[in-house]
Amino acid sequence: MKTIHDFQLMKKEKQKISLVTCYDFWSAVIIDESGIDAVLVGDSVAMVMHGFETTVNAEIEMMSYHVAAVKRGLKNKLLIADLPFLAHKKSYSFLIEAVDRLMKAGAQAVKIEGAGSNIELIKNLVEAGVPVMGHIGLTPQSVHLLSGFKLQGADDLSSKKILNDAHLLEEAGCFSIVLEMIPSELAKKITSELTIPTIGIGAGLHTDGQVLVLQDLLGLNKNFNPKFLRKYLNGFDLIINAINRYNSDVKEKTFPNEKESYR
Ligand code: KIV
Repeated sequence: MKTIHDFQLMKKEKQKISLVTCYDFWSAVIIDESGIDAVLVGDSVAMVMHGFETTVNAEIEMMSYHVAAVKRGLKNKLLIADLPFLAHKKSYSFLIEAVDRLMKAGAQAVKIEGAGSNIELIKNLVEAGVPVMGHIGLTPQSVHLLSGFKLQGADDLSSKKILNDAHLLEEAGCFSIVLEMIPSELAKKITSELTIPTIGIGAGLHTDGQVLVLQDLLGLNKNFNPKFLRKYLNGFDLIINAINRYNSDVKEKTFPNEKESYR
């Protein structure tokens, strides 16, 4: 199993780090046998598995429920879980309770969106023994403030802020940082200046690793086609074809056959 120290080593040795999101037991069982280095139970679970429009609807109950399901299927991968919307803003005791629930459900690290006032909280968590992954650039929990899921850091001012936040997160003790939807030149600069690994999504080739939502790379959402996404399977068509073949077999009375029946 890869640890957060292996992440560090992989960056040093210029080996790319691969992450994928996972929200449920059966996907975890499959991913566990793959070459993927680590799994993120992202708050994107609210959108992908529960049909909400944004990640704002992810709650600590939802997150810990999915972390526990993933953990039951995942034996050999590092498991990182997202701290959901406002969980670190309600109160310090709410934050500690939320992190405690995620870790007790099976997470080995937590991911927190943004820098700013999070920096002190991150320092405290790291000091308390909790590995923290940062997340800057497009931070989906702030989708309404950002007016949509858009490229960030495209102008001088915002790119400087993102670079500065990356340094602050490293200094606060983050073991790694997700860079989402930023220009690849900015991601390259951050990656070269930091000693901790950067994990990109829509941030180009120069980050130390990549993360994708499992359902996106499997092509399960035919209406989600952002520029950064490569689909490795036409999952939607494959699945609907299988369901339709089963449907036809039932209606044409060819399923079950003799071999599939008990005597
Ligand atoms: O919630 C999520 O899936 C994420 C990744 C896109 C990085 O935060």
